[in-house]
Amino acid sequence: METTTAVSGASLGIEDGRTGKSYRIDLVDQALPAASLRAIKVDSEDFGLLSYDPSYGSTISCHSAITFVDGERGILEYRGYPIQQLAANCSFEEVAYLLMEGQPPTADQLRDWERALAEAAQPRSELLELIGHLPPSAHPMSSLTAAIAAMGAVYPDARQISTPAERHGHALRLVAQVPALAAASFRRHQGLAELQPDPSESYIGRFLDLLFEPQSVQHHEAVRRALDVLFILHADHEQNCSTSVVRDVASAGADPYSVAASGVAALSGPLHGGANEAVLEMLREIQRTGDLPGFLAQVRAGKRRLMGFGHRVYKTYDPRARIIQEVANEVFQAVGKNPLIDLATELEQAALADDYFVARRLYPNVDFYSGLIYEAIGLPVEMFTVLFAVARTAGWASHWLESEADPERRISRPRQIYTGPRDLRYPSPS
Ligand code: SDX
Repeated sequence: METTTAVSGASLGIEDGRTGKSYRIDLVDQALPAASLRAIKVDSEDFGLLSYDPSYGSTISCHSAITFVDGERGILEYRGYPIQQLAANCSFEEVAYLLMEGQPPTADQLRDWERALAEAAQPRSELLELIGHLPPSAHPMSSLTAAIAAMGAVYPDARQISTPAERHGHALRLVAQVPALAAASFRRHQGLAELQPDPSESYIGRFLDLLFEPQSVQHHEAVRRALDVLFILHADHEQNCSTSVVRDVASAGADPYSVAASGVAALSGPLHGGANEAVLEMLREIQRTGDLPGFLAQVRAGKRRLMGFGHRVYKTYDPRARIIQEVANEVFQAVGKNPLIDLATELEQAALADDYFVARRLYPNVDFYSGLIYEAIGLPVEMFTVLFAVARTAGWASHWLESEADPERRISRPRQIYTGPRDLRYPSPS
């Protein structure tokens, strides 16, 4: 892991008004090393100055070479390759390899990788039985979280992560098996029997085999290609909430299955990956009331959020949202148009012309249109975030591998500003 040195001459002068002392702090990679603040003390007893950043919006947590995001310009690159090129020219397997290995695969490497994913695709029976014992009413994201965590219980080698080869084996197993665990969660939730995949199929083809009966419209080439692109778009996104959680859990040395399960858990929140499900529920509500202006008024009043809009990093159009809009049109030609697309487009146009959203630089994000595609291919809303999790497993696995090899890594352990009482006397029993 190369860490670039401080930019020569780049430093900050700080004058502490409490003591009148002055400090000069060297910037590293154009950022302030927070640990340097500890030198700023009121007296020798002082722990030193800390920075306060409760949602880490102004905090850099690591060096990473996996994904680059420029939120001002709407740029997303995996290992330096623009997302538009990857979506147009690659399969999801190729992009998963690129994220994990750092380079595009050669033809031989891709063939070996595809074969390895196919050979490792079948989960242990205990995992499928565990999903089968959960109630059909269980949200598939909860089932998937439980099943991935249980991989740590059923695989005896789960805690053997000391060599690169061992770690690569776990990462491969996670990426290979998550489709079958996701599909089993879906079939259980629908009260349907499990299906068997054609082992000669691609990653996406096997996933569709596990989700939908043979000969159903979902096996249409346009659907297969759409899922390939959607999975590429959802595969990684630098230090988002769930990936940060993955790195935090990894920093304690936890097994990779507990690490990945923590990512699924974080992704399930409606402010994160759960937003694609929330968008459909929002569109259906607006469709029912027929009152789009009234809904936007509630948003402006701070009573509602426009789900699928806004982003902590993108302050312009999420490049993934534009590609998803194109994919949607191709899928609708194959399986029939989702009528909600017209309402979504009307909602986007209304928001982008509304000062509330313009002033806050709120634009459609990756979740605004993706659910319309998933619904059009016959998936229930509870499965939308599950598909996000299947794709993002490649990103979480890549960040886990990078984190495990990072010499800078220490256990994550932020501090706090204590607001409770101090040094009380506990009441003696009366
Ligand atoms: C993902 O980080 C990643 O990379 C995530 C992701 C990935 O690939 O991993 O890109 C995937 O999670 C996409 C985001 C999906 N979530 C949603 O679509 C939910 C709706 N959006 C938000 O709740 C919000 O925009 C967040 C959570 C995405 C970002 O929140 P921030 O950066 O903390 O923004 P904020 O809550 O501080 O809001 C700033 C202002 C506030 O208004 P004021 O207090 O200044 O008056 O913008 C407003 C907010 O009320 N605002 C919104 C809004 N998002 C922000 N108002 C209405 N609707 C929204 N969607």
